[in-house]
Amino acid sequence: NTKRNMSGPCILVTGGCGYIGSHTITCLLQSPLNYSVVVVDNLANSSAVSLDRVAEICNLDEESRKQRLVFHNVDMCDEDAFRKVFEASPKFDACIHFAGLKAVGESQKIPLKYYSNNMVSTFNLLNLMEEFGCHAIAFSSSATVYGAADTMPITESTPVGVGITNAYGRTKYMIEEVLKDYYNSKSLNEGAKPMAITILRYFNPVGAHPSGKIGEDPNGIPNNLMPYVAQVAVGRREFLTVFGGDYDGTGVRDYLHVMDLAEGHLSAIEYMAKKEEGLFTFNLGTGNGMSVLDMVKAMGKACGHEIKYKMGERRPGDISTCYADASLAKEEMGWVATRTLDEMCADLWCWQQQNPNGFAA
Ligand code: NAD
Ligand code: WQD
Repeated sequence: NTKRNMSGPCILVTGGCGYIGSHTITCLLQSPLNYSVVVVDNLANSSAVSLDRVAEICNLDEESRKQRLVFHNVDMCDEDAFRKVFEASPKFDACIHFAGLKAVGESQKIPLKYYSNNMVSTFNLLNLMEEFGCHAIAFSSSATVYGAADTMPITESTPVGVGITNAYGRTKYMIEEVLKDYYNSKSLNEGAKPMAITILRYFNPVGAHPSGKIGEDPNGIPNNLMPYVAQVAVGRREFLTVFGGDYDGTGVRDYLHVMDLAEGHLSAIEYMAKKEEGLFTFNLGTGNGMSVLDMVKAMGKACGHEIKYKMGERRPGDISTCYADASLAKEEMGWVATRTLDEMCADLWCWQQQNPNGFAA
């Protein structure tokens, strides 16, 4: 039972109803550090049912949920509405900033929507954190900021910002730059309280909570590989189109279990609390490159039948190979991805089978 009082640190989780946010909240609520969580999400790409499931996973009764898992359905671009959240909340010890739009293809079709949503929400967040005295933030960045890197594995000092192929990716890069300027300004302003900022560059999160109660629930046709594969596995789609690549004819990525990624955020929050001040950047990945065909095979094993696929053209903008050197996160924060590819697929299958239509059902 995770019924506890409010004494732990209070974390603002933006975009907490979404895929990575909801998994991270289960870790926060089950941590011995006794966190409480305030979620801000406008449900643009998620359902509030995810938080009911989080409460189930964490055995929160009504009373402890009221104290430890508060939800505000607010668009962060609406500064007045967002300010009311800060006014109504205890002082935040830190923020984890997941909120953002993330569909790569759509960001090419409607770039202004992506630039304004992702940038304005972040500006409002940083201004309100300043105003209400919150000095620690972990930001959801992405391996996409490395563009098509020449050498593998990718380290944190691999150049960023060059060769990013889409508007979504550029919002991540731009927000990183904003965070750096904001961090550096602190030393130029006398009396300014120093910040702790952690930029987390995720590689490819997949899988679901092992309970099968929460997972990735894309709207419409999935853009990403594993949600698509899971829908083929459960019979919602007939076959996967495998986009071409260089290695074995398919692309290579660094897939990591979403629970490992979720734990990476707790490491970052604890690391910032210990350091109090600093600008940190970490890759979060496993360090292993897997091809599309490796993933199709692993999912076939998890679900007990073959996944039908057809070979297709390369997807415009796709890079061939991308995997992390994640040793810095280990050295500095003690974080390491421990879950195997089989666990990623087994947990994804468990979620997909129990929720064939996502949260809607
Ligand atoms: P998600 O879409 O499931 O979650 C993002 C959440 O932000 C959604 O619940 C959405 O409703 C909310 N949101 C968007 N705009 C908002 C606004 N203006 N106000 C309030 N809420 C808003 O995505 P996810 O997969 O959980 O990703 C979380 C973060 O990690 C995103 O910033 C994403 O870009 C980043 N990221 C994701 C991946 C990935 O492969 N999933 C990889 C790298 C980085
Ligand atoms: C993985 C591999 C595809 C679908 C994207 C974003 C990136 C990040 C993660 C947020 C590739 C192949 C895919 C399909 C396929 N998101 N594929 N058939 O492209 O690494 O990255 O998501 O930051 O910014 O660009 O992930 O899951 O789309 O693709 O063959 O139907 O699967 O070509 O090799 P990607 P993905």
